Amino acid sequence: MGVAFQLRDDLLGAFADRAQTGKPEGGDFAAGKRMRRSSSRPRADSTRPVAALARVLGKPAGPAPWRRRGWPSSAAVSALRWSDAWRACASAPSPWPQRFPGAARAPSWRRGARCAWGRGAMSDPARAPDSVATARAGGKVILLGEHAVVHGVPAIAAGIDLGATARARALASGEASVLQLGGRSWRAGGAEDTARAFTALLAAGAMAGERAAPDDEAAVEVVAHSDMPAGGGLGSSAALGVSIAKAVELLRTGVADPDRALRRARAWEEVFHGTPSGIDSAAALHGGCFRFSREHGVHPITPARTLWLCVGWTGAGASTKAMVDSVAHLAARKPELVSRAMDGIRALVQNAELCIESGDLSALGKLMDMNQMILAGLMVSTEGIETLCAAARGAGALGAKLTGAGGGGSVIALLSGDDAAPPVLDAWKAAGFAGFVPSIDRGPRPAGQERAR
Ligand code: MEV
Repeated sequence: MGVAFQLRDDLLGAFADRAQTGKPEGGDFAAGKRMRRSSSRPRADSTRPVAALARVLGKPAGPAPWRRRGWPSSAAVSALRWSDAWRACASAPSPWPQRFPGAARAPSWRRGARCAWGRGAMSDPARAPDSVATARAGGKVILLGEHAVVHGVPAIAAGIDLGATARARALASGEASVLQLGGRSWRAGGAEDTARAFTALLAAGAMAGERAAPDDEAAVEVVAHSDMPAGGGLGSSAALGVSIAKAVELLRTGVADPDRALRRARAWEEVFHGTPSGIDSAAALHGGCFRFSREHGVHPITPARTLWLCVGWTGAGASTKAMVDSVAHLAARKPELVSRAMDGIRALVQNAELCIESGDLSALGKLMDMNQMILAGLMVSTEGIETLCAAARGAGALGAKLTGAGGGGSVIALLSGDDAAPPVLDAWKAAGFAGFVPSIDRGPRPAGQERAR
């Protein structure tokens, strides 16, 4: 925070209005002080401003050519430092965010807020937020417990390196918010699912009774992109929801507060899935390997050994909502059968957590096979899923099961090591299916993938 403050102070000294800041304009330049921007190495495309600056440094009486060029990179560095500092504070034990609410805002350069960060402006809630924000959220695999988690049973998931990215930009007042996704545009207020989900996400920032962010009603344009197939069981929809939610939060408040982002992402998910357990959004937000239940949320698990997996794609997308509804209908028709299935999955999940923590991957593989049998009993498996599982086991996988909602989508196969992947991928290829080896998060994803400027 100290460095961010100093950078901002440099900027104010160079560019701000003396009447506002009380500082002499260009005082640091004139005194020949080396500031963050002026001391950085000249790049090929910036020789002119650097030469101009070099002429001025140490010449108190000279003109002020730096003013003609604009030097926004100090503002960007300052913003990044500020968000780094803020993230560090947010994860510290002391309740900094509550004590210094105004300090959560990253410095802004554009949108009329240029150098309006005079003393005291840090806590000004009416300060214009940043005009562009970028955020990323990850996909996931569910190792055990999908579907049961909707009915209150814990499940175990792990974040993967594929995910979604969103970039939010403030629009002029009077324009409608718009989402660009997969080559199409959806206007907030539209009737299609994606438009409704976007509208719900934009509206869901503040909790009832909570003060809305200064810019909560302002229009935004969001451009989002997912690395994963929709309906592939890898949490593409939640990763999109979380990345859009974080980008919107960052744009409107200067910080991607996890609770507010999660609230927005859930509003998005509910449009597509009706009654999501929240595990997909939790994985997209936190990453890492964790146990999740509706009642207790995320409980991180530290794997004793790297979890090597292959993901196989059945080639058929499936609707999570339709699959979750099908289990609910089965529960209504055959409550005892489904209740026994839930009890069985609960026991498997408990044991799987112990296996992951102790590094007993062979036992974990067997538990995954048993989970797959129960899922087949709940009618969410398909011929493609069973073929992929059988081929993986035949090629040496320690265990295999569907991941996500089933009805198509993807299969995961647990491996003894990365060298066990090629035989599984070859077996799938021979059976006509594609697969890949994801990188599994070992711990929660480091912050730092978000940017506002
Ligand atoms: C989907 O990835 C996982 C399900 O359990 C649905 C949910 O938990 O919301 C099928």
